[in-house]
Amino acid sequence: MSAYQPLLVRYRDFLPMDAETPILSLGEGSTPLVHAPNLAKQIGVAELWLKCESMNPTGSFKDRGMVLAVAKAKQAGAKCIMCASTGNTSSSAAAYARRAGLTAIVALPAGNVSMSKMAQTLMYGAKLLPVDGNFDAAMRLVREITDKLPIALVNSANPIRLEGQTTGAYEIVDDLGFVPDGVCLPIGNAGNLPAYWTGFKRYQEAGKSKGLPRMLGFEAEGCNAIMRGVPIENPETIATAIRVGNPVSWKKAEAARDESKGIIDCVSDPEILAMWRDLANVEGVFCEPASAAGVAGLKKMVAAGRSDKNGKYVAILTGHGLKDADNAKKAVGEVPAAVKAEFGAVRGWLESHL
Ligand code: F0G
Repeated sequence: MSAYQPLLVRYRDFLPMDAETPILSLGEGSTPLVHAPNLAKQIGVAELWLKCESMNPTGSFKDRGMVLAVAKAKQAGAKCIMCASTGNTSSSAAAYARRAGLTAIVALPAGNVSMSKMAQTLMYGAKLLPVDGNFDAAMRLVREITDKLPIALVNSANPIRLEGQTTGAYEIVDDLGFVPDGVCLPIGNAGNLPAYWTGFKRYQEAGKSKGLPRMLGFEAEGCNAIMRGVPIENPETIATAIRVGNPVSWKKAEAARDESKGIIDCVSDPEILAMWRDLANVEGVFCEPASAAGVAGLKKMVAAGRSDKNGKYVAILTGHGLKDADNAKKAVGEVPAAVKAEFGAVRGWLESHL
């Protein structure tokens, strides 16, 4: 028998559940914490682990919060849920809605969501609503609709989502047996950073851990609203998952940064793309570009002397590489031409390739 426990069972005591909350599960949580000694050396830190949130059922960290949000919506009698999304929240909402027998409506910024994420969301049978505007416009619209109509909001503006996301912190402590010095992650809507911080604090208060990490969050340079202190009207980055100009959980993220004596900074698209490649090439871990922003940020901070090089770090890899097949294809260039299926032809090929 598998030792896997559904997330809502494993961390039940730390989640806002009651006897009537359905135990919804697609196998979320309990994601691998992969030791990354080669990348640690390259970045110049003592230790680095990669929390592979890509291994969640829909391929991103969103499943942790969504499983709880949809279970609670179901419990409250909702028939329909709605979210705005850059692609991952939408896939997750679509999958859990289907599993719970609900309808999901997802508003996406037209033209700025990867094809893989749209196809995945449609496969789960969600109603896709491409909006003529960016993520922030889609988010405003969804807030208005869910305020006025009997449709449940499942964006991270719904605090239940962030409650579910605290479980990532519990798993890190349970797996490592200690609290890392720093946790780095990408910032989009800025919900995950405060969720992890809440999780670490809560585990310490419960006597499950000692000490707290510094929270190190990184926006993409073209959408560094929190870093600059002003919303960005036209956010731009190749990492479309974090292309957000006015993050919903802005204030919560700032509070978590300040309480943890952490950092919110940004990384450029070339820095994101270089680290995206390195994660795959150096450690064999393929994430989506947005996920690499956290590790790229750690590298930048260590180089600038703003993060302890003797520290032990965990990087949250938020989504799977196959989530953005379009950019992966662009990054590798042409797929090699076919070689004749003959020993001689392949021997020639080997001579010129090895
Ligand atoms: N990484 C990935 C792969 C994401 O999809 C997101 C957010 C983030 C990082 C940032 O996390 O919003 O908690 O700061 N994606 C949202 C979505 C916006 O709609 O899927 P955050």
